[in-house]
Amino acid sequence: MPDKLQAPKGTQDILPAESWKWQAIETAARTIAGRYAFSEIRTPVFEHTELFHRGVGEATDIVSKETYTFDDRGGRSLTLRPEGTASVVRAVLQAGLLDQEGARAKVFYLFPMLRYERPQKGRMRQHHQFGVEAFGVADAQQDVECIALQRDFYDAIGLKNLHLRVNSLGDAESKARYRDQLREFLEPKQSALSDDSQRRLETNPLRILDSKVPGDLDACVGAPLPSDALSDSSKAHFDKTCQLLTDLGVAFDIDANLVRGLDYYTETLWEFVATDIGAQSAVGGGGRYDTLVQTLGGRPTPGVGFGLGIERVLLALEAQATELSDARPPLVWIVNTTDVSVLPLMHELRAAGIAVDADLTGRSVKAQFKLADRSGAAKTLVVGDAFEVKDMATGTQSAVTREGLIDALR
Ligand code: HAM
Repeated sequence: MPDKLQAPKGTQDILPAESWKWQAIETAARTIAGRYAFSEIRTPVFEHTELFHRGVGEATDIVSKETYTFDDRGGRSLTLRPEGTASVVRAVLQAGLLDQEGARAKVFYLFPMLRYERPQKGRMRQHHQFGVEAFGVADAQQDVECIALQRDFYDAIGLKNLHLRVNSLGDAESKARYRDQLREFLEPKQSALSDDSQRRLETNPLRILDSKVPGDLDACVGAPLPSDALSDSSKAHFDKTCQLLTDLGVAFDIDANLVRGLDYYTETLWEFVATDIGAQSAVGGGGRYDTLVQTLGGRPTPGVGFGLGIERVLLALEAQATELSDARPPLVWIVNTTDVSVLPLMHELRAAGIAVDADLTGRSVKAQFKLADRSGAAKTLVVGDAFEVKDMATGTQSAVTREGLIDALR
């Protein structure tokens, strides 16, 4: 196949042999989100470019280096969604869900994100996230409800060997103070910084901490930590978060260096890391963003949430040899030894809720049995003068009457 007709670099097809796993993950996500009273939201795959510039931040790698941005035929600059939070805030505001004083909204999403990144194991140009966003509660209980939900999801799918790291950036004032401290610390080392980071020193010194350039990393050694700049109320918020996590039995470590690469975060930040999938080990991260709603034109409304990468979760499950439970209905394969079409019989069985398939090309009985084997069917129904049901797992075969057929196959 010519290169240009293959799937673009950094994307993958989810084929029938894998798609049931995605369904299992999505079902678990919906079930757990529902248990926490989060409702699904779906937003368009593209937005006005301005939304991500304002929401996620001009100086972030996601916006400055990784967006898929294009002009549509009407000359509008549009960007394929690189992350969910800005879109969700936009949608929730546009629908007026936060218009009333004290309004709450709890939503979850399952959709693709597009980032022009250098592809490697666990890093895709199109990846999928299960995410949640909770609006309207400033209290640490809301942070912990989100973290507990995320933990429950991983437990529900059997993902093990996870490590939860938490930190706090503090409120807007703490963050501004930290920005100044960081700038002061890095200014004398300015000439050692990359061009990008020299620019960030002026506009957004926090983003220097995300840099992967070795010189930038060296310059950041010994830099002040966010905890050095926390206000008393931010300290109290973080202490309460940690205490509630402990009360709920959610194991965690404080990682004083954790800042995460999106500008909107305030107060609590967290990341779940898997120990067995290599470099791209973050299987989900989140945090609080108490100024984002206002930045995007709403009334001041606190928010907190997380996004977790489904591809990485699947990689981690595979590395651990953990099997997801397969919810597909067991298949019955019909082997037809007569000249009469079995389509009416299939129709009847399907109407009774049974999953059925058969060869429709007139193959030999032997070839039909081979197909039955290959199909992964749980049972084979041999149709001739009489009916016979074979259990494919045990190999046992039993004669069945026409009237008893549906019961025998259920
Ligand atoms: P993020 O950390 O950029 O946060 O992405 C969330 C998760 O998506 C990551 O932890 C990782 O599992 C997965 N992920 C990110 N990029 C890729 C990629 N290129 N390939 C595969 N998986 C990837 C956000 O996007 C925030 N919106 C999360 C959030 C929601 N914060 C508050 N609410």
